[in-house]
Amino acid sequence: MVAIVSKRRASKPFVLLGSAGLALILVVLCAFSGNAEAASISRSLLGLKQELSKRTTTVSYAYNRMIANIGGASPSGSSNQVPGVPAGTVIAAPSTANPNYFYAWIRDAALTMKVVVSQGTLDRTLIENYIKVEKIHQQNSDGSASLGEPKFNPDGSRFTGPWGRPQNDGPALRASTLIAYAKRIGLSDPLVTNTLYTPSLTGGSLIKTDLEYVSHHWQDSSFDLWEEVNGQHFFNQAVSRRALLDGAKFATSLNDPGAASWYNQQAASIKTSMQSFWNSGSGYVTAYQGVGGRSGLDCAVMLGALRGWDTTTATAVDTTEFGPASDKILATHKKYVDSFRSLYGINKGAAAPAAVATGRYQEDVYDGVGTSRGNPWYICTLSSAEIINTAVSVFNSRGSITITSISLPFFQQFASGLSTGTFAAGSSQFNNIITGMKTMSKGFVDIVQSHSWTNGSLNEEFNRDTGFNQGARDLTWSYAAFVSNDGAANGQFLKV
Ligand SMILES: *[C@@H]1O[C@H](CO)[C@@H](O)[C@H](O)[C@H]1NC(C)=O
Repeated sequence: MVAIVSKRRASKPFVLLGSAGLALILVVLCAFSGNAEAASISRSLLGLKQELSKRTTTVSYAYNRMIANIGGASPSGSSNQVPGVPAGTVIAAPSTANPNYFYAWIRDAALTMKVVVSQGTLDRTLIENYIKVEKIHQQNSDGSASLGEPKFNPDGSRFTGPWGRPQNDGPALRASTLIAYAKRIGLSDPLVTNTLYTPSLTGGSLIKTDLEYVSHHWQDSSFDLWEEVNGQHFFNQAVSRRALLDGAKFATSLNDPGAASWYNQQAASIKTSMQSFWNSGSGYVTAYQGVGGRSGLDCAVMLGALRGWDTTTATAVDTTEFGPASDKILATHKKYVDSFRSLYGINKGAAAPAAVATGRYQEDVYDGVGTSRGNPWYICTLSSAEIINTAVSVFNSRGSITITSISLPFFQQFASGLSTGTFAAGSSQFNNIITGMKTMSKGFVDIVQSHSWTNGSLNEEFNRDTGFNQGARDLTWSYAAFVSNDGAANGQFLKV
């Protein structure tokens, strides 16, 4: 498929310095600036200090840094990073050059606001400002190909430069976030019945407009969530299905039975289509179809399982649902994580069950600014943890773990002598597996924390050889991923 200009494929080539050259620069840098971070890295490169020191990313820090990137929002303990941006506009990162992420993406905003909607105390002002902005984005999509328009200027106008279009996961993610909010404030709230959902096909209500688009366009070719390749994507189908399942229940409650039945039909068709992403020969779920030159082992599958699973039902373990606790997703998790063990220098080839830094996919060449070699991403390392944390919650609430021949290699990481079968809570197998899984998930978070800036901030990526932060600073989605995983670790995966 056609190569495109995208946020994750900037045009300026980046020349990677040899590590000796880099160490020299960093020694000079820390000699003159006293920059502790640079000093730590240079010591590590010189072999004087093998490990980066423990950093301070906490869930409240991450939450406030995420909020700081939303127009008009007041994070506690730090300043808003996007002054002048209309209230409710979620900016992808405050970085305006090398790379310029100072835009509003439908995807990043919906995933961020899902985390906001999942908080114990609802920030109605913040969420309702987001709703106003999304209304504008939806209306401004009119001049473009479709609601799959991925990215908008901070003032809400459409970004009209060359880009990968359409990106059809956006409307699906937005619909799920808005439905979750409507459920929290109650379906008889006037905001729901006036603005969010009216049965009329021509009424232009936000959720209905998105659900109609998703239900009629999920089969179309689309760019992926990394904005690089056009084809069919597991992630897009998973989140489209989730939106339509949410939408069908919602339409039923709001007295729109015809729509409910249409959304259910389409969700069922997507479920059938999703089965074809399982590659039984290789033993993992592939991220895409119609895309060449890649193995298909991709962080997008982890994210698709997390955000596509219908958390309102107990189907996380059903193999055809691809929830985080299903045998096919756990098998994919093992192969995905293993694919980075010797690829990135900082992982030092650590063997399973050690956690390692994970990136988007092995063949990645985007380095956060231009193209050279791909790096580990915070989003991806955290999604590796969140899959495990969610699966642990599901096993605990079911009181058993079922091991199939598909998931056996995943579970064998944590206990010796395992075979297929069902193991009840309290058995040594169950206990050993849960303990091992928790250790691994904590390991992913430790990696994230050990590579954050000393103030706890997270960029988009960290360098595969030096561990130093790289790419857009203070990436909103990195923080959303941190908070989301923390909820899963506490048994509170995003239930809304
Ligand atoms: C933390 O430090 C990094 C690196 O200097 C910087 O990019 C980030 O914006 C800082 N965060 C805050 C809250 O000051």
